Amino acid sequence: MSALKVLMVGAGAVGQTYGFHLLRGGAELTFYVRPGKVAGLRGGVVVHPLNLSRAPRRLEGYAVVSDAAQVATAGPFDVVILTVPSDALRGAWCTDLLAAAGPDATVVALQPGPQDQQWVADQVGAERVVAGLIALLAWFAPLPGVDRAPGVAWWRPPFGKLPFSGAPARVQPLVQTLRKGGMPAKAVPDAAQAGAAASAVMMPFIAALESVGWQLARLPEPEPHGLALGAAREIRALVAPKASDLPLKIMGRRGLLRVGLRVARWFMPMDLQTYTQAHFTKVGAQTRFMFARYVELARERGLAADHVQGLLDRLAALDAKRAPTG
Ligand SMILES: NC(=O)c1ccc[n+]([C@@H]2O[C@H](COP(=O)([O-])OP(=O)(O)OC[C@H]3O[C@@H](n4cnc5c(N)ncnc54)[C@H](OP(=O)(O)O)[C@@H]3O)[C@@H](O)[C@H]2O)c1
Repeated sequence: MSALKVLMVGAGAVGQTYGFHLLRGGAELTFYVRPGKVAGLRGGVVVHPLNLSRAPRRLEGYAVVSDAAQVATAGPFDVVILTVPSDALRGAWCTDLLAAAGPDATVVALQPGPQDQQWVADQVGAERVVAGLIALLAWFAPLPGVDRAPGVAWWRPPFGKLPFSGAPARVQPLVQTLRKGGMPAKAVPDAAQAGAAASAVMMPFIAALESVGWQLARLPEPEPHGLALGAAREIRALVAPKASDLPLKIMGRRGLLRVGLRVARWFMPMDLQTYTQAHFTKVGAQTRFMFARYVELARERGLAADHVQGLLDRLAALDAKRAPTG
């Protein structure tokens, strides 16, 4: 197999994590970033692959481009991986980039928002899209209170594999390169649907958590928990009606949730509450974007979204409180 030529769109936590493993697996890697971010990436960056070791490593040996003309010159690419948040995805900049990357590039869509995958398919044709689910946690180190060199850190839960779905001829080179680079990955029948189902359950609890000041211990309290569970049911009915009920049943048991949150502390290499607050504050615009889309979709389809709207209202109230006055 000749080296897979990959354009990584975004060099944030996920972009650097996937990029590290693809490079190790023998891919030729180019990051696309906004012009202001080019200098910070030149010459390599520090990363913390916490599943491999606690010692920092260097991510280096990649190219960096920052506009569609440079993408066209550096291409054509075999694979384009979109790691920007859902709210950043839809835009002329992305459409131009996809056109510049090459007429047959596989486009990997990792975004969790409703209809994100559809938007990508509308740009390049469904046959070129590979859907992926980000089954790991990545963040900009150091998290508050941790003594670690600045750089992206990541942790993959034990036995977790990055799932991808799409045409086998497009999925296999990606999966093989990631595996060769030390990241377990696998082909699955429908990563987009798995992602929609996971987001349907997870995002309401994240929004409820934000509404109680990110205090994990308060999440099982009746009020935030009831609102999150109601919203999870509504979103699931909207985007993943055929998904298994089990995650909802588990999250619906407040005692079980309390125990699960305590147990998670024992095996994660970072504090879950600190990571959750840092990550979802960073992608807060995406959370609001996703909830607004869920409400819109529910209205279009005549489905209930009272709890989703309730969470969106809470986030809006928080934003209003934070907004500078005068
Ligand atoms: N991190 C995780 O643990 C995790 C887990 C599951 C799912 N995800 C999902 O993965 C996605 C990315 O998360 P992340 O943690 O990697 O976020 P991140 O660290 O903020 O990275 C996002 C990257 O996208 C870039 N970007 C945003 N708008 C852009 C634009 N218009 N043009 C070019 N680049 C743009 C950002 O560039 P700038 O720095 O210039 O803004 C940044 O490099 C999100 O959808 C998130 O929900 C993440």
